[in-house]
Amino acid sequence: MAVERETRNNLVFAVNGERFELSTVDPSTTLLEFLRSRTRFKSVKLSCGEGGCGACVVLLSKYDPVLDQVEDFTASSCLTLLCSINGYSITTTEGLGNSKDGFHPIHQRFAGFHASQCGFCTPGMCVSLFAALVNAEKATQSEPSPGFSKLTVSEAEKAISGNLCRCTGYRSIADACKSFAADVDVEDLGLNSFWRKGESKEVKMSRLPFYNRNKEICTFPEFLKKEIRSSMLLDSKRFYWYNPVSVKELQSLLESNETNDGSLIKLVAGNTGMGYYKELEHYDRYIDLRYIPELSSIRRDPKGIEIGATITISKAIEALKEENKSEFHPKSEMVFKKIANHMEKIASGFIRNTASIGGNLMMAQRKNFPSDIATILVAVGSMVYIMTGPTCERIMLEEFLERPPLSSKTLLLNVKIPSWESIKNISSETDTMLLFETYRAAPRPLGNALPYLNAAFLAEVSPCKTSDGIIVNNCQLAFGAYGTKHAIRARQVEEFLAGKILSLDVLYEATKLVKAVVVPEDGTSSPAYRSSLAIGFLFDFFSPLIDNGGKISNVLLEGYIKNVNAYKSNQNHVQLAHDNLPSLLSSGKQVIELSEEYHPVGEPITKSGAAIQASGEAFYVDDIPSPENCLHGTFIYSTKPLAWVKGIQFQPKPLPDGVASIITFKDIPKGGENIGSKSIFGTEPLFAEELTQCAGQRLAFVVADTQKHADKAINFAVVDYDLENLEPPILSVEEAVKRSSLFEVPPMFYPKQVGDISKGMAEADHKILSAEIKLGSQYYFYMESQAALAIPDEDNCMVVYSSSQVPEWTHAVIAKCLGVPEHNVRVITRRVGGAFGGKSIKAMPVATACALAAHKLRRPVRIYLDRKTDMIMAGGRHPMKITYSVGFKSNGKITALQLDILINAGLSPDISPIMPHNILGPLKKYDWGALSFDIKVCKTNHSSKSAMRAPGEVQGSFIAEAVIEHVASTLSMDVDSVRSINLHTYDSLNLFYESNADEPLEYTLPSIWDKLAMSSSLHQRTEKVKEFNRDNKWRKRGISRIPIVHEFFVRPTPGKVSILSDGSIVVEVGGIELGQGLWTKVKQMAAFGLSSIQCDGVGDLLDKVRVIQSDSLSLIQGGFTAGSTTSESSCEAVRLCCNILVERLRPLRERLQDQMGSIKWEMLIAQAYMLSVNLSASSFFVPDLTSMQYRIYGAAVSEVEVNILTGETTILQTDIIYDCGQSLNPAVDLGQIEGAFVQGVGFFMLEEYLTNSDGLVVAEGTWTYKIPTLDTIPKQFNVEIQKSGHHQKRVLSSKASGEPPLILAASVHCATRAAIKEARKQLLSWSGKDECSSTFQLEVPATMPVVKEHCGLESVERYLEWRMGRK
Ligand SMILES: Cc1cc2nc3c(=O)[nH]c(=O)nc-3n(C[C@H](O)[C@H](O)[C@H](O)COP(=O)(O)OP(=O)(O)OC[C@H]3O[C@@H](n4cnc5c(N)ncnc54)[C@H](O)[C@@H]3O)c2cc1C
Ligand code: FES
Ligand code: FES
Repeated sequence: MAVERETRNNLVFAVNGERFELSTVDPSTTLLEFLRSRTRFKSVKLSCGEGGCGACVVLLSKYDPVLDQVEDFTASSCLTLLCSINGYSITTTEGLGNSKDGFHPIHQRFAGFHASQCGFCTPGMCVSLFAALVNAEKATQSEPSPGFSKLTVSEAEKAISGNLCRCTGYRSIADACKSFAADVDVEDLGLNSFWRKGESKEVKMSRLPFYNRNKEICTFPEFLKKEIRSSMLLDSKRFYWYNPVSVKELQSLLESNETNDGSLIKLVAGNTGMGYYKELEHYDRYIDLRYIPELSSIRRDPKGIEIGATITISKAIEALKEENKSEFHPKSEMVFKKIANHMEKIASGFIRNTASIGGNLMMAQRKNFPSDIATILVAVGSMVYIMTGPTCERIMLEEFLERPPLSSKTLLLNVKIPSWESIKNISSETDTMLLFETYRAAPRPLGNALPYLNAAFLAEVSPCKTSDGIIVNNCQLAFGAYGTKHAIRARQVEEFLAGKILSLDVLYEATKLVKAVVVPEDGTSSPAYRSSLAIGFLFDFFSPLIDNGGKISNVLLEGYIKNVNAYKSNQNHVQLAHDNLPSLLSSGKQVIELSEEYHPVGEPITKSGAAIQASGEAFYVDDIPSPENCLHGTFIYSTKPLAWVKGIQFQPKPLPDGVASIITFKDIPKGGENIGSKSIFGTEPLFAEELTQCAGQRLAFVVADTQKHADKAINFAVVDYDLENLEPPILSVEEAVKRSSLFEVPPMFYPKQVGDISKGMAEADHKILSAEIKLGSQYYFYMESQAALAIPDEDNCMVVYSSSQVPEWTHAVIAKCLGVPEHNVRVITRRVGGAFGGKSIKAMPVATACALAAHKLRRPVRIYLDRKTDMIMAGGRHPMKITYSVGFKSNGKITALQLDILINAGLSPDISPIMPHNILGPLKKYDWGALSFDIKVCKTNHSSKSAMRAPGEVQGSFIAEAVIEHVASTLSMDVDSVRSINLHTYDSLNLFYESNADEPLEYTLPSIWDKLAMSSSLHQRTEKVKEFNRDNKWRKRGISRIPIVHEFFVRPTPGKVSILSDGSIVVEVGGIELGQGLWTKVKQMAAFGLSSIQCDGVGDLLDKVRVIQSDSLSLIQGGFTAGSTTSESSCEAVRLCCNILVERLRPLRERLQDQMGSIKWEMLIAQAYMLSVNLSASSFFVPDLTSMQYRIYGAAVSEVEVNILTGETTILQTDIIYDCGQSLNPAVDLGQIEGAFVQGVGFFMLEEYLTNSDGLVVAEGTWTYKIPTLDTIPKQFNVEIQKSGHHQKRVLSSKASGEPPLILAASVHCATRAAIKEARKQLLSWSGKDECSSTFQLEVPATMPVVKEHCGLESVERYLEWRMGRK
């Protein structure tokens, strides 16, 4: 190296106040890898590994010894390289508090607001909130009231807006965060365990766990401050990590032999680019650019702001927002602020805090990254300063982007954003106005999603001297991210507009030009949508200046913003970009009715384990420390739907780094079987043998020394396929039917037809014949991906820790695969980080592969499946094609429904044969008159589909709604009245659900239906929606109410309750804690059951109960945790155990009470021990035939607003009423209802689980698969849990809640359809057509492109034509 410096330092940093010093480390090690594998701080979870979920968020703190200041910011530890945090302090949620020393109020409030279900997202959420609290303290706001922080409600919500949660639906998390805000109205906070009904605001505030701002955790330990020196740079020779401190040094480094020896070098700033480009190369050396002053400074001069390349996006936002009155013209400040506002929608806070401006632009330059920064900076005419070897150049950003990819040694030094005054063309024109706006259309409004298109427009306009209009003096129009190589300037449009007086005709011509310019490259998804977005944005920008009559002078005097606001208040114009950030959840109301009857059952107690989930002490499978010699595995999967597998090799090396073995079906021991999973309908092989039969099928299991090595290795696997003598694969349901490739459905799972279809059809006044619907798949997106750890035990035994919903069957499959008796296998499951059906059948091969590898290699083997492989192999929800014919009367009463349903089950039966039954259950929620159907379960060359929350049921219910909508639309009737007229009477309900009819009083749907109309003010709001739609052209609203009827099955479940000598109680149940609150309800039931012994102290039994992990040898016949009813059946099993124990204890209690007058619980138990009373009881709850099956009822009203220009749907309000019987725990049930509903919103509106033409999943992670975030849930979210009295055959009168609320999210889809209908009516009227032809099927999911397409991709053009024609 040319420049010698004292850099013999080790890597030193602190984690939660503990000092760490490393003398060497692989420079590609991420902070997450280090924390999880080399420290006890396992709260930092890996979920996506690409910066998209927030499960791994940590607080990084950096000390500036000169200013004596600590800078605190969040970062995603999965992308942060360990060497880049030399001298930093890291805080994880463990650092805030714990069960031994006391929890932090953040932990306590997350638990108390019921904001943690599976808990896998919770540590990241807590850290995000903590960071916001710490930084709020640095602000200059006035002092908040004691117990609160300086944080505002909106900041509190935004703090977690980039974190994903798949369980809760976010409302409860938002409330936990908002509870710290200085400006919170406590009345706006939702259900929590701190308050009692009727308490005053003051009492409520005092009951929140106290937050002491003045005693907050120190984020940067004193000892580390003392170590911070200016020369604290790593020894590059040992770490292969260089920290040049000047451009000169960097240059000589890039030219030196040290880096020119053929080794792979990477320049890094924040390393977040790795989240998008998952480079497979192993870099030998890294050069950290952040220590070079020229790259890390921000300079302001009258000509603009120069931002160093390593400046983070967060810092750039701060700089651009900085107000310095005299420095720039106010219009320049306006431009800077709008750029900053746009940047706030890039990724999420924890990415922006480390992602650099330079890194972003280099990704755009070299790899066509769809950058926002490039587009907005191109629009304002920014310049970049680059250096290649000794040559430095200052060029326009546009030219920089247009050049061929720059060499890896070209350095971007800075980017200069010019001030308006420095580039202003018409200096003499004093009345010239500067207009600037930026735009982006993305699935999530607040960011954390790449845009379909972004744009930024800058224009100088002035009043026309000779007419009323406005002249565009000149403009700069930039578009990007639409499937183009880089951001572009639309020069043809600019040139056309320059000098023109704005008019409808001019704008119309301009839209045509835009359409010719913004043309996505081949292969880009939704190309027409993206082009139409460009037109919409242009229209939005210029149209306020047209036809504005007397307001023109105001425009110029008072400025564009004011003008646009005036337009907005006219309600005739859309605003796409001028709004402040869209507000998040505005509020939520929860109505629950408590029941004391079975105390403490029925109490909304805090979820068991919520606090330790928040503090990161809760263990998931991947948190179990690795045993000695442990290996790590992952799968090689097929990319072909049907092919011979001739061989598998690695290239270029025969064995990639760290790989120990590759396991295939050939490794199955003698006596064992190639079995990976089973269900009651059949089995699936663990590995394909000679023939692979679907893309995503497991071919082999690679085992390596680390998970990283195993994950990397599969990218080097080359599978030799051969298609000889093979028929083409079956990739569609139609083809499956043609080739009779069907799974048999046992008669007991095939539902019965109702009534006489010919008669029903004959009675009809109208018919719709052979209408079609197609429904796609959905991925589980559990935050914890599939995980297992297999440890060989003595005597040919195997202990397997599995993140499974069905340990019992996993156990059986492992034994069969290994060819050992079942008593040789033990499967242990403590808690699961989200499952939603995806960890029942699909968890089995994961655990089995580990067990097989462990068996063969005689070493422990574990797996934590990376998100991409998980998504490719998971299968997910069943896609299907539905053809229906329906007959109906002129009043909307349906007389007959005929259905043909083709279900794509994929390769193996899995649970697919139950789908006909599941689809029909909720579909029968309406009285169809007669119902006939033909349902085929198709075997195809797709990965086998499995149960996902409300499997079949969500589709069945949706089909019903689609039919109703179609009927209403055909009759031009109000849909709600068609729904009402077709709701069941009690008699028709019994006809359709012949088995186990409810008592008349138990059929609560009619009353819920009416009550919801009242509580949600449905009718008044419907009128308001109409009014809104009359008054608004570019936004339309829709409101929709839908009912659900959902059938449940209760399955046999075991339980075991044991009382220990100190009176504490330990409970085992067959059910698994998946986040659904099963343990909590079980605890309550144990306390209730044992309290009937009636001795002193039984009121406090709840605190004495611990539910322990499931162990498949300790409690057999555990069964499935699925179908929503496992909580209640586990509770019932526990109640039976308690009854046995109470019976055993009763004589003793009576005797002792007679002797002593009263007896305490502990004393009773101590005496029972002395007398050898058996204090452990087991039971196996088997529901009798009459109580096995039951139904629940519910309804939801949703109101949405659709933006016609972008296709964006905002859920304004949702109101739900759900009949929970007598809820076992209303807080838990509320969480299930909200969480399921939001997962349903994902299914109906956002989530596209796409495959390529071979059936290989191509939605591989958070970049392409968008689950709901805080900014996509209903802005107002009201849930009422109806207590529907006594249900004799139910477990303490309770009913389940896990799945049906997901189905209620169809209300959002239906409301969207209603809004689109209005848009289409308007469009037809612009086109001068008849409005009756407006019938359409709205696809699921109704994503932005889909919605926009139905609203009219050419709506702007039609509008302009209409206006021009009228003139
Ligand atoms: C989850 C997520 C979501 C995102 N969403 C968006 C979005 O919506 N819109 C958007 O615009 N961006 C988005 N991004 C991209 C993000 O802005 C970039 O990843 C980030 O700015 C890159 O900066 P970095 O410092 O991390 O670069 P690094 O990852 O360190 O580097 C990126 C590349 O640039 C090279 N490089 C870095 N600095 C220089 C330099 N000065 N000179 C020469 N080469 C250099 C590196 O060698 C590397 O090849 C997202 C990123 C993530 C992870
Ligand atoms: S695991 Fe790091 S952001 Fe998802
Ligand atoms: S609690 Fe958030 S992912 Fe499960």
